[in-house]
Amino acid sequence: MKDATQSPAPAPPLAMLAELTHRCPLACPYCSNPVELTGKQAEMGTAEWARIFAEAAALGVLQLHLSGGEPASRPDLVQIVQAAREAGLYTNLITSGIGLNARRLDELDAAGLDHIQLSLQGTGADIADRIGGYSGGFARKMQVAAQIARIGFPLTINAVMHRHNLDDLPATLALAAELGARRIEVACVQFQGWALRNRAALQPTRAQVDQAKQVVAEARRTYAGRLAIDFVPPDYFADFPKACMNGWGSTGLNIAPDGKVLPCHAAEIIPGLSFQNARETPLATIWNGPAFAAFRGSDWLPEPCQSCERREIDFGGCRCQAMALTGDARATDPVCRRSPHRAEVDRLIAGETGAPTPDFIYRRLDAGAR
Ligand code: SF4
Ligand code: FES
Repeated sequence: MKDATQSPAPAPPLAMLAELTHRCPLACPYCSNPVELTGKQAEMGTAEWARIFAEAAALGVLQLHLSGGEPASRPDLVQIVQAAREAGLYTNLITSGIGLNARRLDELDAAGLDHIQLSLQGTGADIADRIGGYSGGFARKMQVAAQIARIGFPLTINAVMHRHNLDDLPATLALAAELGARRIEVACVQFQGWALRNRAALQPTRAQVDQAKQVVAEARRTYAGRLAIDFVPPDYFADFPKACMNGWGSTGLNIAPDGKVLPCHAAEIIPGLSFQNARETPLATIWNGPAFAAFRGSDWLPEPCQSCERREIDFGGCRCQAMALTGDARATDPVCRRSPHRAEVDRLIAGETGAPTPDFIYRRLDAGAR
């Protein structure tokens, strides 16, 4: 890992993800939150968040993503949005919709909320409520979507896709258009946190992945000018890894509910890193500190990345994926065809998609709350 004192000051972050709470009425097995969730008693209060938003804006952050857990589980969500707007941040609410209603959405609108990203677990109550582990959730989400359309919030649908719903991709796109979304993020599940624990149950088949690529290509023509379609293909089926977080410590930071500042949502699985807390340390100090410097840029990269022409494109891939699959956060992301571990990823996919699908392990706060 690099010594932070040797590097010139990094460019400021552009985006900040604020995990306001890990509480959530849903229990999605694909959740990327850490398996060890943070309990309500450890959450920061409104004034602490407001101070951090001001620090973030002073540091250069432009966009704030209010996330969780379910951010609407915070009774002070409207005040939090107000504070973010007063700090001059663009605010995006990432929500399942559960906990919102017409009155609360009107208040969020008055507070200056700029954008909503609504998750979709499935296109009907049967599948959506089974995946979300919450009976009646789909019906309530549809009511919330109607209120979002009434107010006119710019809306993105966030559909996490996996073995259980990839075949419904055409219906998912149609529903997003019907709900008035301007954009849909078709995000094949990334195996971090609870999703990693549920990997065998969620792993799509190669046939599903190939079909999904065709559906997306066709839908981009069908919905051109109406619905923008972002497609995040499943990592394990790719030849090269993604540039996770656009490169570690390059453009974004995540704040956990208790104020811990992370270079990405899964960074706590990496041993040897210690994370500073925005309750005690200014954000600018943390951004320039050792956890963010650890894998910043490309100087630290091992071979084969160091002599690879893609090293400034993907920065060797995802550190947490390297950690989860090889036990070494400094390794080349094993998804890469040039990684010595790629054959193990292929064996893993074959094993998981060839075996009977195990039951979900639903996300639960009481499974190991801090
Ligand atoms: Fe990316 Fe490293 Fe693979 Fe090159 S060898 S494509 S830099 S992960
Ligand atoms: Fe941590 Fe990719 S999720 S670097």
